[in-house]
Order: sequence, then structure tokens, then C-alpha cells
Amino acid sequence: MLRFPTLILLLLVLTPADALAEADAIERGEYIFNAAGCAGCHTDLKGNGPLLAGGRPLETPFGRFYGPNITPDPQHGIGAWTDEQFVTALKTGVSPAGKPYYPAFPFTSFNRAKPEDLLDLKAYIFSLPPVAQPSRAHELRFPFGWRPLLWGWRMLNFKPATFAEDPNQDVQLNRGRYLVDTLTHCGECHTPRNALGATDADRRMAGTVAGPEGQTVPNISPHPDTGIGAWSVADLTSLLKSGLTPEFDSVGGSMGEVVEQSTSRLLDEDLEAIAMYLLSLPSIDNLIAKPSTE
Ligand code: HEC
Ligand code: HEC
Repeated sequence: MLRFPTLILLLLVLTPADALAEADAIERGEYIFNAAGCAGCHTDLKGNGPLLAGGRPLETPFGRFYGPNITPDPQHGIGAWTDEQFVTALKTGVSPAGKPYYPAFPFTSFNRAKPEDLLDLKAYIFSLPPVAQPSRAHELRFPFGWRPLLWGWRMLNFKPATFAEDPNQDVQLNRGRYLVDTLTHCGECHTPRNALGATDADRRMAGTVAGPEGQTVPNISPHPDTGIGAWSVADLTSLLKSGLTPEFDSVGGSMGEVVEQSTSRLLDEDLEAIAMYLLSLPSIDNLIAKPSTE
């Protein structure tokens, strides 16, 4: 809580220019927040839970995770975190107490984010209402509940990096690569994983029958028969905007959520960049049988 004299002091030092800069950061941060779909895993929508207050179950082969409370509540959320702690958590997957995070939190993609984007993201999250609700403990299978195992996992599977523009690629492909590989983290679901739960870099976007919540995730590499090689940029952009495939099927499950909470809220030029980049990736022949519809 701010004490009265502190408030006066703050008002004295916070010039209108600072206030405006802060408002800009919050607005940019909201866009990053939507692109990254932070709300999805951290909000118990089915249980009508408050925004970002946690409790959403995520089923994985290792057990059930619950997205924690990341509202700015200082006790139950992340309200007491400094900028540095927030950036470190997303860029390195390590908590302020020095504990490693499970890759069910896609820091494995977010780590490449530009630090300035993460600061804007924090400004937005900290502008939202705090919720005093404790996070739920994960329910993991033995031995995965033992967090220090993750140090070993990280040595094998995680190399933090920051996105760098590729001067040999045009602006649009660079933007698409940043969005797909970092913020919108398409590969966290569309790239198959090895036995250790790490994404297989040689089979990017090739699809898997063992996706999140046990869902079948289609091949979205540009293979003409087993992937989306026959789709145009317009087909893809329109799916990301509306959730409708070129055959007018609507995508469901976790992709329905991605469209609703993330891609439908992005600018058309960003959706186009995503589509152009995806269609420029290596084509991988991997037939993923469509799940039977109930
Ligand atoms: C696919 C689901 C998923 C998405 C998307 C996701 N998170 Fe998380 N997040 C998790 C899970 C699960 C954990 C708990 C990890 C653990 O306990 O090791 C977590 C942990 C965190 C933590 C650490 C909280 C703490 O108390 O230590 C922060 C901060 C966080 N997420 C922020 C974000 C932000 C910001 C975004 C959007 C950029 C985001 N998350 C997107 C699943 C997700
Ligand atoms: C949380 C997991 C998840 C994420 C993240 C995700 N997808 Fe999907 N995606 C799915 C699932 C599951 C389906 C299958 C939906 C269905 O069959 O109704 C799907 C379907 C699709 C399809 C339809 C393919 C076809 O052959 O019908 C496209 C295209 C697609 N996703 C593109 C993307 C792009 C681009 C991104 C990143 C912006 C992305 N997805 C992020 C899970 C995900």
C-alpha cells in the first residue's frame, strides 16, 4: 500500500510525460499479452475464475499443472516482483527464488522475446486488478514433482536466446518469425516432442497425435499433402482471424482458444507475416490422422 506522503512524492516526480509513456507501455503490453495468449493458461475460464488468477488445469503426460495466479496481487500473484525478476522468469525460466520452472510454462518460446516487449507486457499485467487467490499446487506423477530434476532437463533441452533480426530476410518474414517462434508459440503445440517433453527441432510444425490435453494437432508445415502446403496466405490469415478452415470447418479445442484469445486480436499485417513465415518453413511429410469427431 502506498502511504500518503509517498503518494505526494510520486505525484511530484511523475510528470505528465512519464504518465503518457506509461500509458503507451500498457497499450503496447496489451498487444503482446494477446499475441502470447497469457490469459488462457492463467485463467480458469471453465470455472468462471477471475482474469489471470490461476487454477486452470493443463493435462500433460507428466501430470496435471495448474496455471498460477499472475495478477499483481503482492501475496498470491506477482505484484511484488521487480522488472528484472519478471524478465528473468520469462527469459530464463527461473523464479525470483531461484527455482526452475516446468516447460508447461512456454518460457522455452518466450525466452526469445525482446526485453522491451516484456517490460511493456509487465506494465499491462500490473495495470489489471489484483486477485487475492492462492495458486493451486500441481498434481504431477512421480518423480516429476521433484523440481530440481528440471536443472538436468534444462541442460539437455534449453538454450536461452534473444530474437535477432536476420538481415537476409525481409521485414515481414522477420516479423513472422518473431511472432511464430516467440510470442504466439505455435510450435509449443504443433511441433512433436521427444520422450523428455522437449520439442523436436528437426520436425518443426509437423504435428502430433500427443498434443496438449491429449489432442491431435495437425501438421502445419508447408507439405502439399500432409501439411498446409496447399493453403494460400489468405486461407491461413482467415483461419487465424475467424477460426474457419478453407473447407469452412471451424477449428476447435485448444486452437479455438488460440484464435479467440490470441490471433483474432492481432493486426492483419501480423497475421499475414505469420502466414508468410509458416509457408516459408521446411516442408515435412508427416501424416497426422484427423481425430474422429464425436
Ligand atoms: C501453455 C500455458 C501457459 C501460457 C500460454 C503461459 N503460461 Fe505462465 N505458466 C504456466 C504454468 C503451467 C506455470 C507454472 C510453472 C511452474 O510451476 O514451474 C506458469 C508460470 C508463470 C509465471 C511464474 C509465476 C510464479 O508464481 O512463479 C509467470 C510470471 C508467468 N507464468 C507469466 C506468463 C505470461 C506473462 C504469459 C504470456 C506471455 C504466460 N505466462 C503464458 C502456463 C502458461
Ligand atoms: C495450445 C495449442 C496450440 C497452439 C499454441 C497453436 N495451435 Fe494450431 N492447432 C491446435 C490444434 C489442437 C488444432 C486442431 C484443431 C481442430 O482439429 O479442431 C490446430 C489447428 C491449426 C490449423 C488447422 C490445420 C488444418 O489442417 O486444419 C492451423 C492452420 C493452425 N492450427 C495454425 C496455428 C498457428 C499459425 C499457430 C500460432 C499462431 C497455432 N496454430 C498455435 C493447437 C494449437
